[in-house]
Amino acid sequence: MRVAVLGGDGYCGWATALYLSKRGHSVAIADNFARRQWDHELGVQTLTPIRPLSDRLNVWQDLTGETIELFVGDVTEYDFLSSVIQGFEPDAVVHFAEQRAAPYSMIDRKHAVFTQVNNVVGTLNLLFALREFQPDCHLVKLGTMGEYGTPNIDIEEGYITIEHNGRRDTVPYPKQPGSFYHLSKVHDSHNIMFACKVWGLRATDLNQGVVYGTTTDEVALSEALINRFDYDDVFGTVLNRFCVQAAIGYPLTVYGKGGQTRGFLDIRDTVRCVEIACLNPAARGECRVFNQFTEQFSVLDLAHMVQTAGEKLGLTVEVDHLPDPRVEAEEHYYNAKHSKLIELGLEPHLLSDSLLDSLMNVALKYRDRVDPAVMMPRINWRQPRNERRVQTSREPVPVVEASLQVVGGSGRKDNGNRGNSSNARSDLKGKLER
Ligand SMILES: NC(=O)c1ccc[n+]([C@@H]2O[C@H](COP(=O)([O-])OP(=O)(O)OC[C@H]3O[C@@H](n4cnc5c(N)ncnc54)[C@H](O)[C@@H]3O)[C@@H](O)[C@H]2O)c1
Repeated sequence: MRVAVLGGDGYCGWATALYLSKRGHSVAIADNFARRQWDHELGVQTLTPIRPLSDRLNVWQDLTGETIELFVGDVTEYDFLSSVIQGFEPDAVVHFAEQRAAPYSMIDRKHAVFTQVNNVVGTLNLLFALREFQPDCHLVKLGTMGEYGTPNIDIEEGYITIEHNGRRDTVPYPKQPGSFYHLSKVHDSHNIMFACKVWGLRATDLNQGVVYGTTTDEVALSEALINRFDYDDVFGTVLNRFCVQAAIGYPLTVYGKGGQTRGFLDIRDTVRCVEIACLNPAARGECRVFNQFTEQFSVLDLAHMVQTAGEKLGLTVEVDHLPDPRVEAEEHYYNAKHSKLIELGLEPHLLSDSLLDSLMNVALKYRDRVDPAVMMPRINWRQPRNERRVQTSREPVPVVEASLQVVGGSGRKDNGNRGNSSNARSDLKGKLER
């Protein structure tokens, strides 16, 4: 199968491109490296030292003999995107190429507008390019569980059958997104559904949960293939962040009560879910929705799991409750269906202590690259304008005894970072109260 991976230089896209290539599919990547530029803009860097994409692709070819084609460009530019579709003639397009951080979209007006233009226009261009040049191609689009919000009823997979005034219909499940980023995904979903209806395109909208982990079998083949591992307050996802915080003795940054419950999955399941979707395409005119996650956890559940795993490794892990910079329910009902991918053959990798150990080991291995200044949240949902990160002189990471056997090495309650955390915490509290 010929699969084009849009956004293949990113976290999910890179792991997916290698996985599909290893399984014998012809793979092409399209990316404009925007994600690397957002790191520069925010003054942050991935924990893991990722190589330039061309180096990674050469290493992949040397190790496996497989070639992954590369198209460098912006999917919001129609000429570029349509030339990729015409030149590569994919059977499936996996679309990851979006701005995916909720906090980034909430920085200010400019970032909200950028997020929605980048995401909505890119997807709209893709729908037109498929209609014009490859109408039988299957669109596999990454959406998010965050499109649904946290309703007080069970969340279905995309559609819900309701009875109203004695009549019955199956309609798209109501969406209550929690940021301008999540709203961009809802707009995408509507555009995709409409294009399937009017043009007979085939699409699968993968409403993905929060992804954790960094290693897949393919990425593990060489240090040069290493994937991104974001832990900063804007792009870092919660479990990856907690593991890095635990590894350097920084109190875990739980927002509010920590009862926020979401769906989660291992990156090894992300790549498999995408393959399953590609191998089982939607019918012409069909817009399917799969909820792509394997387990539900609250933020506080995760904090306690990381605390326990850290203690087993000899780390003392503190949990800090910060004022929630987001506008969201801190405690709520949450029960989301997620059976369609399992029915198609997904065998989930569930979160276990050993996975947490290995995540913390990754964090320890690269701890010299950890910048504690990017742990505290700086983007307040209530403000229309948030200050961009001020580059502070980088505090040295506390001297963590490199070996995990050293009890209390990095987890001292009164280490230097604690002071930093407390200052930033009262600063944040002040802003939220204003
Ligand atoms: N990471 C998660 O936990 C998670 C959870 C749910 C959904 N998703 C979705 O999965 C997708 C991938 O997420 P990720 O974590 O890999 O993000 P990422 O930021 O690591 O990767 C996105 C890639 O797309 C590229 N890109 C962005 N805009 C582009 C454009 N206009 N033209 C060309 N390339 C562009 C970036 O350069 C980057 O390489 C996103 O759509 C995201 O919404 C991710």
